Amino acid sequence: MTAKKTIAVITTGGDAPGMNAAIRSVVRSAIHSGFKVIGFKRGWRGLIEKDYMNMESRTVSNIIGRGGTILYTDRCPLFKKKKYRRQAAFNLEELSPAGLVVIGGDGSMNAAYMLTEMTSVPVIGIPASIDNDIAGTDETVGFDTAINTALESIDKIRDTATSHRRIFIVEVMGRDRGFLAVNIGLASGAEIILIPEKNRKKEKILEELIELKNSGKSSILIIMAEGAGDADKLAHYIGNSLSVPVRISKLGYIQRGGAPTVDSRLLASLFGFEAIKLLKKKKSGVMITWVKEELGYVPLSYPHNNKKELNMQFLDIARVLSG
Ligand code: F6P
Repeated sequence: MTAKKTIAVITTGGDAPGMNAAIRSVVRSAIHSGFKVIGFKRGWRGLIEKDYMNMESRTVSNIIGRGGTILYTDRCPLFKKKKYRRQAAFNLEELSPAGLVVIGGDGSMNAAYMLTEMTSVPVIGIPASIDNDIAGTDETVGFDTAINTALESIDKIRDTATSHRRIFIVEVMGRDRGFLAVNIGLASGAEIILIPEKNRKKEKILEELIELKNSGKSSILIIMAEGAGDADKLAHYIGNSLSVPVRISKLGYIQRGGAPTVDSRLLASLFGFEAIKLLKKKKSGVMITWVKEELGYVPLSYPHNNKKELNMQFLDIARVLSG
């Protein structure tokens, strides 16, 4: 492998729809600029084990519209251990590509930041996560797709909730942050949105439900981030307190798959192209961002040291609009 004329790309952490579109953009942009491309498989594990494949323009044909990642990914807890990060850095130095493009979520950007402290190989981060919880960028690849996937299901749930005049709790992804729940809740017309950032007592939730029912609401939709508590326990408490049936739907992993939306594909394509542009300018240790509809970048230390703010006003707006 002629080192300096090679770009390496990797997808790490939780997969997100649009990762393939980002891989495609990195590969095609790199080849257009005269680079060869290698792709590490299964996230950081592939870098630790030097498990990679050569990538040609044809390798990424017809993947722009496919969910998941053709390079596979892995949560790779090993990477949390310095010994394995050192091994990854050693392998990277040995291969010494002109740059490494890391496509992943918040944890992956943190890991990329830690890697920059152990290698002289330029590292560029592309934010890709359904959680949209990465400080520095308004949007991450996959977020829009996950919201639309959830909405397709929730609109269907709304039909049966209305027909049976039921209370439904729909659990959405978001282990630590409520960006998915807030946006899905607002877009689905949910009456109540529960997020990890705002811990609400079950008694207060019950009070709000009674208010809603007294206002004439026959069916009620509660959108609950998985990190906001135990949906089963809450349903049981509400059902017993109100002596009404409370049903639960946990959307789970369907939010992580599916064909990426136009928005996710555009973001992924622009991010991939920008990554190669920055590497050609000898930029390193930065994450590409999308802020106010503009491409940019921040140091990888920024998402490492900052927590993305959630617009809590969305909760109030959703409550007003749910009537
Ligand atoms: O990070 C994205 C995410 O989908 C979270 O919303 C979810 O809680 C988590 O990944 C699930 O992790 P895993 O895929 O390891 O089960």
